[in-house]
Amino acid sequence: MTKKSGVVVLGIFVADTTYLAERMPVIGETLMGRGFSVGPGGKGSNQAVAAARAGAETTFLSKIGKDTFGELAQSTYRESGVKAQLMIEEAEPTGAAFIYVNDTSGENAIIVYPGAAGKIDSPFIEENRQTIENAKVFVTQMEQPEEAALQALRIAKGAGVTTVFNPAPASRFSPEFFELCDYIVPNETEAEAIVGFPVDSFETAQKAGEILCDKGAGVALITLGEKGVYVHSKEIRAMVPAVTNAPVLDTSGAGDAFIGGFTAALSENQDVVAATRFGCATAGISVSRRGTAPSMPQRHEIDDLLKNVGY
Ligand code: RIB
Repeated sequence: MTKKSGVVVLGIFVADTTYLAERMPVIGETLMGRGFSVGPGGKGSNQAVAAARAGAETTFLSKIGKDTFGELAQSTYRESGVKAQLMIEEAEPTGAAFIYVNDTSGENAIIVYPGAAGKIDSPFIEENRQTIENAKVFVTQMEQPEEAALQALRIAKGAGVTTVFNPAPASRFSPEFFELCDYIVPNETEAEAIVGFPVDSFETAQKAGEILCDKGAGVALITLGEKGVYVHSKEIRAMVPAVTNAPVLDTSGAGDAFIGGFTAALSENQDVVAATRFGCATAGISVSRRGTAPSMPQRHEIDDLLKNVGY
């Protein structure tokens, strides 16, 4: 049997078009923006960039279009050292996202259109079976079709790969997902969509963690923004605090930074609490910079922050 190694991510790439403004416009209103940028995004793609920069051998599986945004994807993976196994969908454009970022708080709101990655299907997953089976850690989300995510998780789980599922964006999904994930990583909104009550404190996260594990997940990691990450399993009930070294500028992609750092640490056999701290440090640096994928830190920056906070 081939030795398992590295992080494999199934997900989407899109071009993030980010608008800085004092607030969201209301319907019928035009609002003057205070900044604009275009850069690489998509949850899976951001997670892959974060994992690679954090030091993991990382492979990204997706579909892109034959266009300028597709070229942006390719150059992003070249620069960040991600091995990309991409299929070009000639008839579809590469996707894009509208991201509003509040210029005071750094909070965000997003609309994402997956474009070519919306065509990720069963034959594509089958073609990549070996890559998934050989991973040490496999991670996916809900931005590509649900059936593809489910099929890839079944393959990973069947091959004894450590599986991580980020149920984002918040949506209804098959209950089969729970038993296929060693780790489920929702944020507050995504956790609330699953458990049906607001999840915004240690107590509510603990209740939510119990439900997620009862449904079949191995460990639940609920990301709670500036409060940190709540970790729940049969043995662990712990709040790992958020860490940062600079003011928060832009929270978009923070969850992806966490997952990239967390999975990179898992692939090095770090235990779940140490890997969560590593993920928190990755996210803590990313929120002090603008953009999603471009804000992901290098390994030495994560190590320095962990050292500075005494971990
Ligand atoms: O998690 C942030 C990401 O969500 C953005 O990059 C955007 O593309 C959406 O997919």
